[in-house]
Amino acid sequence: MVKSKTAYVCTDCGSEYSRWLGQCTDCKAWNTISEFRQAKLPSRGGNFAGFAGNAAGNEAKVQTLDTIDLADLPRFSAGFAEFDRVLGGGIVPGSAILIGGEPGAGKSTLLLQAMCSLATTMPALYITGEESLQQVAMRAKRLGLPTDQLKMLSETSVENICHIAIKEQPKIMVIDSIQVMHMSEIQSAPGSVSQVRESAAYLTRFAKQHHVAILLVGHVTKDGSLAGPKVLEHCIDCSIMLEGSTDSRYRTLRGNKNRFGAVNELGVFAMTGSGLKEVKNPSAIFLTRSEEQTPGSTVMVVWEGTRPLLVEIQALVDHSALGNPRRVAVGADQNRLSMLLAILHRHGGLQLNDQDVFVNVVGGVKVTETSIDLALILALVSSFKDNALPQDLVIFGEVGLSGEIRPVPSGQERLNEAAKHGFKRAIVPYNNMPKQKIAEMEVIGVKKLSDALDVI
Ligand code: TYD
Ligand code: MG
Repeated sequence: MVKSKTAYVCTDCGSEYSRWLGQCTDCKAWNTISEFRQAKLPSRGGNFAGFAGNAAGNEAKVQTLDTIDLADLPRFSAGFAEFDRVLGGGIVPGSAILIGGEPGAGKSTLLLQAMCSLATTMPALYITGEESLQQVAMRAKRLGLPTDQLKMLSETSVENICHIAIKEQPKIMVIDSIQVMHMSEIQSAPGSVSQVRESAAYLTRFAKQHHVAILLVGHVTKDGSLAGPKVLEHCIDCSIMLEGSTDSRYRTLRGNKNRFGAVNELGVFAMTGSGLKEVKNPSAIFLTRSEEQTPGSTVMVVWEGTRPLLVEIQALVDHSALGNPRRVAVGADQNRLSMLLAILHRHGGLQLNDQDVFVNVVGGVKVTETSIDLALILALVSSFKDNALPQDLVIFGEVGLSGEIRPVPSGQERLNEAAKHGFKRAIVPYNNMPKQKIAEMEVIGVKKLSDALDVI
């Protein structure tokens, strides 16, 4: 008899341990480690739950790379150009894609819209474990979606789902959500690490074996009461996140992992009364600024995958009443902010030790790029000196620890995008100075932080 193996897994970062610990040594989160009982492994040579072959669904056979048949993988569109962009050009048949996000982000809405339009061209199956069929039907009707082709199923048992899918032969399938799915051979409750991991692994194998693209919905909860998408990121092909607070209209779709394309693509959607709508020109919405010039506000160009995006950075520097002043960054990295404040002190001669510092990227965008550095520093200086920067100025560049301004990729394209939106001046790293002059734009290249401070 094969004994089931017990492991301990952090629900936040997915690290595995052989015994229980109070704190995860990898991500330092407290009380996130829970027991994970792996399913009994089949005896060697036996078929695991009716599947032959290995985890990727291929028959075990040694081949060289050039003899592997590639022709049968044409991607198909998910119905939204922004969605396709994040996936790297569309859905690959037989892939397992995880869509994560907080409850209420709009995952079910996005997938229902995508599936209803996909169902008109291919067999599609939508499995709902959270909402009743009536609820989904009501939503589809309200959104005015074509409802006569999409097949619906309300089920939470993974074995039953696969059984029905073999009969229905869909080309694409949605599982909403992975956290309510369960497998009979695992004892723990739905939503626990064991269930979520095994269900996802089983469904991924099913996807490969039967060439069905499977979209798995995964909730991200802050308190970690549900096993989050992190614990199953290793077994799926793509992991994308739908982000955006429920009180803001805009949602961004971002790739975290993609076995078929780049991960730094960003798709932008707006949540409207009639579902999610694509935003074709995101720069325009993130830049809705007031006419008046305000201190502490700068505009920068971030490079998201294959396109530039103009965003506004706001900073507020205010005298602190506390002994330990606050440093808050929304949409930017908190550690990076602390580092930039130190650079500003050392190489810009500006002491902000007794000041509270708040930084915000407007529109709920998250900037992970280092090109934010220069724009952020200049926003801080502008707020501290209470001196507004010109409306038509755009800034980007990385700042090094010795106060040097480093170049960032795609400088020319960033400047072109800014020029398209009517910006007349730019402060950029010296090495990012364009080779050809950009029409109606004055570009100032800076080598050191002190140069940039002199310019403004
Ligand atoms: P939903 O797709 O149910 O979220 P998730 O599956 O990620 O938990 O979307 C929920 C939110 O979207 C809900 O709070 C209301 C909002 N919403 C709209 O604003 N307009 C709409 O047309 C729909 C369908 C939802
Ligand atoms: Mg939902």
